[in-house]
Amino acid sequence: MCGIVGYTGSKEASEILIGGLKKLEYRGYDSAGIALQKNGQVVIAKAAGSVADLEKSLDDRFKAVKAGIGHTRWATHGRPTDQNAHPHSSHSGEIVVVHNGIIENNRLLRKWLIEEKGYSFRSETDTEVLAHLIEEYYDGDLLEAVRKSVSTVEGSYALVAVTCREPDRLVCARKDSPLIIGFGEGENFIASDIPALLNHTRNTCILEDGEFASITAEKVEVFNLEGCPVEKEIFKVNWDIAAAEKGGYDHFMLKEIMEQPVAVRETMRQRIDAAKGRVVPTEFEISPDELARLEKIYIVACGTAYHAGLIGKAVIEKLAGIPVEVEVASEFRYREPLLGENQLAIVISQSGETADTLAGLRLARSKGVKVLAITNVVGSTVSREADQVLFTWAGPEIAVASTKAYLTQLIAVYLIAIYLGEARKTLKPEKAAELVKGLLALPSQLERILSEESIAKLRSYCDHLATWERAFFLGRNLDFPVAMEGALKLKEISYIHAEACAAGELKHGPLALIVEGLPVIALATQKAVLDKTLSNIHEVNARGGAVFAITQEGFDDVARQVESVFYLPPVNDILAPVLAVVPTQLIAYYAALARGSSVDKPRNLAKSVTVE
Ligand code: F6R
Repeated sequence: MCGIVGYTGSKEASEILIGGLKKLEYRGYDSAGIALQKNGQVVIAKAAGSVADLEKSLDDRFKAVKAGIGHTRWATHGRPTDQNAHPHSSHSGEIVVVHNGIIENNRLLRKWLIEEKGYSFRSETDTEVLAHLIEEYYDGDLLEAVRKSVSTVEGSYALVAVTCREPDRLVCARKDSPLIIGFGEGENFIASDIPALLNHTRNTCILEDGEFASITAEKVEVFNLEGCPVEKEIFKVNWDIAAAEKGGYDHFMLKEIMEQPVAVRETMRQRIDAAKGRVVPTEFEISPDELARLEKIYIVACGTAYHAGLIGKAVIEKLAGIPVEVEVASEFRYREPLLGENQLAIVISQSGETADTLAGLRLARSKGVKVLAITNVVGSTVSREADQVLFTWAGPEIAVASTKAYLTQLIAVYLIAIYLGEARKTLKPEKAAELVKGLLALPSQLERILSEESIAKLRSYCDHLATWERAFFLGRNLDFPVAMEGALKLKEISYIHAEACAAGELKHGPLALIVEGLPVIALATQKAVLDKTLSNIHEVNARGGAVFAITQEGFDDVARQVESVFYLPPVNDILAPVLAVVPTQLIAYYAALARGSSVDKPRNLAKSVTVE
């Protein structure tokens, strides 16, 4: 989720690259760098910090140069340091690379390059592997060396390489990470996102997976994996910069909702062995001895992350048989919890800077409890202070209301639960393999849920919801935390007061509030309690409540009771929360839109709550 820019032409390359990087800083901003082709050399400037800091550091060596590449980073592999900032150069310094994505077989390749080929590494990044590999395969043609290199890597990449041996030529390749070519007059561009191009050109083409391009000031040539030339259509961009930053969507929140299939796929990468149907714990590990002694887990988090914790409790208890307590961090820190030996604390925080969560982490560690953090921000305080960290790879989340980070937190808790279940032998290998298969199917199921046709189904209900000042969300079992998350999202961005109710609790009080037309969003994805949920829906119907049901395809009884039904693709009940929450995010979004609220920056709220 970092930003890439490349330029070759007749203008001052450093200015174009810095300008482009500034337009991409919203994609990642912990470090930045540029590399320019000058007098048979490639000169590099890079450092942790902002693009403005980088700009200030550029001396005369970076002037009067006509081609180069730039990068702004959102750390995934390796902390945000000067060494880990891109561009990365090869052993000899002749090949220089910028890269977005994840090289999954990074460790294997790194070992091979060090042990068999004598390369040494300067950074902790997976990208450096690419620089050395390209050098290893370089035989006078950069495009061919890039082609050979990417055929040995597994994972995702948008990469641009340059070499001092081929001045003014950029070579790029793409798989599962965007790259766009911009066409100018006597100059050409490459960027990971359209905003970086718009000050220079609106004529673009999008590189597809498996395609490579060679770009000079005069010529752009695109090839497929087999090396055959590909004819590309030029696409004229009509967006202004603000729309382009949002990928053409009206709000960052909608863009981030739409990015969820990718975010989920990225977070599972390298952590699942699909062939064996197993979770591979790369970052977190618990020794057999710790595992045998583990008696209790505390999950500590705030807001949306707390809701991910509630799902975590249910799945860890079910799959691994370990008792789990989930606590809102602001309560946990002041409540003198019974912390002690044989416990594990899991803290969940998108930003990794939430004051209460951090205090919970420190409290647990002060009592000798090992802390595993789930966070989205490499280098955040939570990631630095925890004993172990499982990073969610959602990329920067800009809208205040958390969506894609939440989904990746869910993936993280499933990975932990399956890993613990397998390690403790409470989860049979066949069952683990079934769940792993289910996890791997989620990105394409999410894509289906996010299709235009599917969204159209909830728009008219949102128009009705938007006219009310209050609403209910109902659910049982794993649907209850989803209802809580749906209610939180609705209230924070639409300002409609929403309450989540465990469906069985309805008749213990909240039923008194149900009146004709009141919006009630009912989650009914859990087979084991479907009849019970249906009878609660019936209670609401009988009082005139306007029910919108979210259920799985094949649960036909739901449609017999409710007019507005949103079907999720069939899914293992345990994994259903990942899918079921998405229509609730969309409901919140379209209700807020209909009410004219400030979707991305709701009143009184901040993205990161670093004070109490
Ligand atoms: C709601 C939301 C908040 C955060 C909470 C914790 O959409 O985003 O409830 O989940 O403030 O923040 P992090 O995860 O950064 O610790």
